[in-house]
Amino acid sequence: MSKSQTPLPPYLNLDPQVAASKLPDPIDTARFAKAASFCAKGREDLAQRGYAPDGQKRLRKFSTWEVTKYLIPVAPAHLRRVLKANPDLPQGEGEGGSKWFTLEEVLTLRTHFASEGVSTKEYLPYRPKGQPAKVAAVANFKGGVGKTSTAAHLAMSAALDGYKVLVIDLDSQGSMTSILGGDVPDEWSTVFPLIAKDYAKAVVAENEVRKAAGTAQIQLDETLTEALEVSSRNVIQNTHWPNIDLIGAQLNLYWAEFQIPVWRMGLRSWALWDGLQNFLHDEGILDDYDVVILDTPPALGYLTINALAAADILLVPLGASFLEFDSTGRFFDMLYTTFASIEEGENAALRKAGLPEMKFEWDVVRAIVTRFDASQQTDMANVIQAYFGDFMNAYRQDYTALVGQAGEQVNGIYEADYRDFNRETYVRGREAFDRTYAEFKELLIGSWWRDEQMMGDENGKA
Ligand SMILES: Nc1ncnc2c1ncn2[C@@H]1O[C@H](COP(=O)(O)OP(=O)(O)O)[C@@H](O)[C@H]1O
Ligand SMILES: [Mg+2]
Repeated sequence: MSKSQTPLPPYLNLDPQVAASKLPDPIDTARFAKAASFCAKGREDLAQRGYAPDGQKRLRKFSTWEVTKYLIPVAPAHLRRVLKANPDLPQGEGEGGSKWFTLEEVLTLRTHFASEGVSTKEYLPYRPKGQPAKVAAVANFKGGVGKTSTAAHLAMSAALDGYKVLVIDLDSQGSMTSILGGDVPDEWSTVFPLIAKDYAKAVVAENEVRKAAGTAQIQLDETLTEALEVSSRNVIQNTHWPNIDLIGAQLNLYWAEFQIPVWRMGLRSWALWDGLQNFLHDEGILDDYDVVILDTPPALGYLTINALAAADILLVPLGASFLEFDSTGRFFDMLYTTFASIEEGENAALRKAGLPEMKFEWDVVRAIVTRFDASQQTDMANVIQAYFGDFMNAYRQDYTALVGQAGEQVNGIYEADYRDFNRETYVRGREAFDRTYAEFKELLIGSWWRDEQMMGDENGKA
């Protein structure tokens, strides 16, 4: 009797001895070095074959259609008239009706319209005079939830809108740094020396006290002595976007996670969460820029804590799935525990010294649903929204293939050329991030406006 057998699933009837014979010898640490060196060779090979980005990113140009639809709200015919009447303005390149402009040129045109155009239209984005830049951190300890994509698109849309943006990459994987074409040879081009400098300054101050008291000094090693000389000029780099600057990241930045607690052991009074915030305040960064965007690693480590302590606006991306909702809940729980315990520790000491207590405060915190698929996830998103309430943004950032598809040399939809896509697809994809930005911008300008009112009130009282 012949049996026609359906084959077994591939995971049944496996033989342990055969399986063992396929295994290599147990792996020791040195094997990782070998893997890394093979990868480095492979990388070189791929780079020679033209696969690696050449580090020479260039921002594309913007057409009359885009400029008038997305960037400067005037009719195309009106733009053409204004250009004709003002031959000194950038005229754009290209034949016929559609001209192409660099972003620098768009910014020049915008300034022109702001000074000459109809005053009821917004040509330049709101930034109250004398108010410091707002710092926005994008964080969640889960990876792959859209932190970097959200942060990069927010930075680019704010730049297109006319804001001057500083992006700080705190993730040693450096995805944001690649997106912005950053060049980061080692940890000295990251935030590492800025935090080191903050610690070194605290040690110098402490040593003054100890000198007066005649007690032993804390030694500054070579790294810390060098860090004392570091300034923003050493770490901030330009990007291919005229109004986005970058403090990049690379693998060595991860060392900070080990070093920061060691420093703290050396000097208990050093506020290990404040280094980044002190840098932003003390070096005039908050006057030089409008918006500072912090991309964080998928962990609640010391770098993320520094980012959160420096932030005015905290955005927490998550997908509309059970697992991402669950882990985001835990993330908030960890934030609570972490910052409450810092406050408790500090305030105990402050009370003892008869000083006023401290507390962390954010202008606004918002969870954002990312990679949203309305056909599959609407119920889940509604439940999540019900639980988060006003802790969640109203707009759900749609899943859009444009994010991943833009290509090797361009990242995200603001860098992509719309002519590479079906117009309909482009418009919908772009809307996902335009609306994410619109909601962020409301948080931004609302917070500024509120600050200004409060300053006014205080001045009135004084
Ligand atoms: N709105 C979106 N639509 C489609 N894909 C997205 C969207 N946002 C993010 N992604 C993709 O999801 C993946 C993880 O995003 P990423 O921003 O790197 O997350 P994280 O920084 O949290 O690790 C990336 O491959 C990215 O291209
Ligand atoms: Mg990331």
